[in-house]
Amino acid sequence: MTTPTIAADEPLVRRHLAFGWWALLFFVILGLLLEALHGFKVDWYLGRAFETRRLLWRLAHAHGTLLAVLNLVFAFSASRLRGPALLRASRCLQAAAVALPLGFFGGGLAVDGGDPHPLIALVPLGALFLVAGVFLTARATLESEKSS
Ligand code: HEM
Repeated sequence: MTTPTIAADEPLVRRHLAFGWWALLFFVILGLLLEALHGFKVDWYLGRAFETRRLLWRLAHAHGTLLAVLNLVFAFSASRLRGPALLRASRCLQAAAVALPLGFFGGGLAVDGGDPHPLIALVPLGALFLVAGVFLTARATLESEKSS
């Protein structure tokens, strides 16, 4: 049985490995900062009037970490797939990993009576990028099947 080789020197794969690991570092550190806000019982995060901010920043942390891992999963997939859909999938997944957590975090920067900051508008945009990225990656698996 032959061991499959991972084309780790391909620029696309390396870009996603770098993006995924740096993004994971960033969003894990955001988790540490949230933990510190708990530790110091910070009112503008834990107070009743700021429930929206806490929810949105928790969502920024959770989505950021998970989308970082998704970019690493994409790097693994890209090392085994071919086809034109792959490059577009790459762009979409990176855009989603920026827009979704940035929208959640930005939305929580200023909470006006429970209403988030307008930056929350980045969230549906990020969701569209995510759906497109996942679809294009799924399609790349079919293109690779045909060309193999
Ligand atoms: C791969 C790594 C991580 C993933 C996937 C992850 C994921 C999540 C998820 C899904 C939640 C929401 C939980 C809920 O609402 O029930 C959460 C909340 C939280 N995480 Fe993480 N996390 C990670 C690493 C960390 C680290 C290293 C820290 C820092 C010690 C951390 C601190 C927190 C805190 C403080 C909350 C709660 C925030 C709040 O409700 O105020 N996370 N995380």
